[in-house]
Amino acid sequence: MDKIFGYENLINEVIWYYRSGGGSKRHFGRKHDTLLFYAKDKSRYLFYPDAVRVPYDAVIADSRKHLFNVQGKVSPDVWDISRPPNHSKEWLGYPTQKPEALIERVIQSATKEGDVVADFFCGGGTTPAVAQRLGRRWIACDQSRVAVAVTADRLIRGAQQLTTDLQIPDFTIEYWGVYEARRLTRMPAEQFREFILRCFGARPSEEHANIHGYKGVVPVWVGSPQADQPVTPQEVLAFANAVRRTPRYQQGSLREGIMLAWAFSPEARDAAEKLRSQEQVNVNFIRLDLIRIDSPQFRRHVAELSTDHADYENFLTFVQPPRVEVGYQRIAPLTYKFDVSDTVVVNPNAKILNVQWDFDYDGRHFRSTQGYALAKASEPVVYKFPRPGVYTIACKVQDDKGGEGVWVGEVKVE
Ligand SMILES: C[S@@+](CC[C@H](N)C(=O)[O-])C[C@H]1O[C@@H](n2cnc3c(N)ncnc32)[C@H](O)[C@@H]1O
Repeated sequence: MDKIFGYENLINEVIWYYRSGGGSKRHFGRKHDTLLFYAKDKSRYLFYPDAVRVPYDAVIADSRKHLFNVQGKVSPDVWDISRPPNHSKEWLGYPTQKPEALIERVIQSATKEGDVVADFFCGGGTTPAVAQRLGRRWIACDQSRVAVAVTADRLIRGAQQLTTDLQIPDFTIEYWGVYEARRLTRMPAEQFREFILRCFGARPSEEHANIHGYKGVVPVWVGSPQADQPVTPQEVLAFANAVRRTPRYQQGSLREGIMLAWAFSPEARDAAEKLRSQEQVNVNFIRLDLIRIDSPQFRRHVAELSTDHADYENFLTFVQPPRVEVGYQRIAPLTYKFDVSDTVVVNPNAKILNVQWDFDYDGRHFRSTQGYALAKASEPVVYKFPRPGVYTIACKVQDDKGGEGVWVGEVKVE
């Protein structure tokens, strides 16, 4: 923090003291966390101590109350704030979740309504939830997709519970680095091409029709964004002909080309093999490399772009959503047991990490009726509906590789 903000810009070291947890016979009870309060520039920063005054100590309050601010005293740098008990409404079960009262004090002491609060490690979303409730705008990030889902859910429910007439702006979720194969398929072809070329370390070019870019001097071609349109032999031949027309080919110094696509038809592979097989007999052969975009071979090219500052391979992953299968069974009047045990995770080595259920889905805002079963994600859940009727049920499943799938279905409840 000293390096980032400057040693001279430290304003306070705050001790957050809590009574629960941390006990042991092997060391003193661990009952505090430390908050470091820095300003970007200590000579001009905003601080609103009046917004977070605390009660006077009892002794003073009784004897000399009239001398003091009825709002209480300016908060000292030791804060006694209890953690939400496990059974409280606030408690989501997100590990390391912070109490709202703690975050409230941070936000109110440093911002006014309408200001922007950012938490780049938002976890269960305490900061944006409190910021929203207090009429602040917010930016929240987390590298964990589960954290993002839990946060989104909490914000939607928080907005619904608000009793004030605060106007809550809509929010959007941006996933960076994790590219859902399915979403890429909806990209316009040109944008997709450019994106794939850049991931691959190639530069886009429009000099020749049928050559989309170059990796070094090697011509590159990119297939359709649609995963269900495998490359055809005609496309292979068209690309080979374009390569033949390049000056380098004609000078005899280049015989290669690279085709990138989600899939290649067997006939396309045969066509490429035929071109290459002439290598032994004909100098006019062409050696085409057919690389699937979701293959390890593609990733190796991505990894090569990594530098000291950026780890591209981890930053760029193509993920597939799990195929969510929901089974259910009536076990008592209005009471049903739901399970996702037939769900198939598609990403290699992935396992299910989080399952959230909305037993009365409005088709737009997913609000878990039950969920965040972080540890026992795939166990069945039992839900009792308030009354008979037809309900829309949604189930969101996330795997630990960033894949997320949603199942929506109707259930007639009796
Ligand atoms: C201590 S938790 C935050 C808990 C949060 N204050 C709450 O009340 O729920 C830290 C979070 O940081 C996230 N995280 C860790 N490293 C990260 C990184 N490099 N970028 C973004 N998020 C990261 C973790 O996924 C985790 O959710």
